[in-house]
Amino acid sequence: MAAQKPTLKTIKIFDTTLRDGEQSPGASMNIDEKLRVARQLQKLNVDVIEAGFPIASEGDFEAVKKIAQAIKGPEIAGLCRASSKDIDRGWEALQYAGEKGRIHTFIATSDIHMKYKLKMTPTEVLAAAVKAVKRARSYTPNVEFSCEDAVRTSLPFMAEVVAAVIDAGATTVNIPDTVGYTIPFEYFNIITYLKENVANIDQAVISVHCHNDLGLSVANSIAAVQAGAGQVECTINGIGERAGNCSLEEFVMTLKTRSDILPFRTNVVTEQLTPASRLLTTVTGIVVQPNKAIVGANAFAHEAGIHQHGMLMEKTTYEIMTPESVGLKTNVLVLGKHSGRHAFKKRLEEMGYDLDDEMLNKAFERFKALADLKKEVFDEDLDAIVADEEGMRGEEMYKLSHITVTSGSFAVATATVQMEIEGKPVRTAELGDGPVDAALKAIKKLTKTKAKLMQYNVGSITGGTDAQGEVTVRVGDGDRTVIGRGSSTDIIEASAKAYIHALNRLHYKKEKVVEHL
Ligand code: KIV
Ligand code: ZN
Repeated sequence: MAAQKPTLKTIKIFDTTLRDGEQSPGASMNIDEKLRVARQLQKLNVDVIEAGFPIASEGDFEAVKKIAQAIKGPEIAGLCRASSKDIDRGWEALQYAGEKGRIHTFIATSDIHMKYKLKMTPTEVLAAAVKAVKRARSYTPNVEFSCEDAVRTSLPFMAEVVAAVIDAGATTVNIPDTVGYTIPFEYFNIITYLKENVANIDQAVISVHCHNDLGLSVANSIAAVQAGAGQVECTINGIGERAGNCSLEEFVMTLKTRSDILPFRTNVVTEQLTPASRLLTTVTGIVVQPNKAIVGANAFAHEAGIHQHGMLMEKTTYEIMTPESVGLKTNVLVLGKHSGRHAFKKRLEEMGYDLDDEMLNKAFERFKALADLKKEVFDEDLDAIVADEEGMRGEEMYKLSHITVTSGSFAVATATVQMEIEGKPVRTAELGDGPVDAALKAIKKLTKTKAKLMQYNVGSITGGTDAQGEVTVRVGDGDRTVIGRGSSTDIIEASAKAYIHALNRLHYKKEKVVEHL
């Protein structure tokens, strides 16, 4: 008789890429970009999408509202501080998700945060938490409460707060490691303590939310589910404040790969992990390190001869999960210059893109132009084309029309740049210390911006001298930093596009009024 498989407990995946993830330096996304990521999260089949922090800005409010209207399947959460104003504004955006709308309210409970940041006593914090949860419950039965900096909170006080918010109607209680300080053994004990010392704990789902300051966010999340947590908060590619959050793909694949000793599962469609990772990279410009687990470029590359030999004899010698299980199709030769619109559209759909007609037409034109220059067009080229076109879409303030550069070892580099600024054509020329410097100076002059170029990276998307160059820039203005990205077979044009992309993002970010914590 075949051995019976043990039943696996389902762990809810709460994705906060669009909220905590967006708090990564340079990761701000506009509304269209957030909607694209949310659609991919829907395909991934996460249980909850935290779509933003509605009171933070008009842009955040609109993004949460549009995601609540458009996304079917996952619950949609919005972050609100423990104040009536935040919660009222939060629900204004979340109401469009109906019974799938979740208010996520929080207040810090550690001594250090209460004393120095909130300047409130524990009694005041407890009262504010209960009041916030009650207010949220007046709108929806789906309420999550977070004890910010839970890991540095006194355990008896946290147990008191957790019991009180569950009494007030919270259906999920989150125990975040806000500063990425805990270790697996300690976190296991904290969750165990709450299970043993909060009488009504069974009336709520225990959630965990780990930051990665010590590189332990995935390990800590696993320890927490072993102790009884039922929800894990995480982000695609592990992006988030400072060193980031628990990486969704790492957590999910750990449960899937080690279900022999971890009796848990998730609802995530793992074949959508690589498309999700790539989409986020193209949208934010934040590249994944090559050795990143699951979605890094080298995650399934076997270099050493002895490994390759073993792999040829039997894949499982060195492979603990298959590339297909995470949706990886490497270096697929997609199309050439004779490929038609239908094949182009089909390939984009296979890669997880769902473009409207306008975008599809623009992307197809770009593809045809590229296929004329380059014999072989790869998936990575298509990612870059879509990212570029999306980056230039809609409400962009600045657009590049043409760029001409002359340079050489004996010539002073000169760039002539023509742009559209709010629809008006403008043109200028500048000299520079090399062609990129000249081009960026001309753009700076035309846009009258004071932003500082903090980092400039150039790479090639695929191999060969006909490859597209991809430029990523980090640009700062005061305390705001953004990343811009551009691609072209001409690296000066790619640089100009990346810089303009960043300036558009800075412009969008200017309206943010409330910082997270
Ligand atoms: O890190 C944190 O504590 C948070 C909370 C708002 C959940 O992001
Ligand atoms: Zn966080």
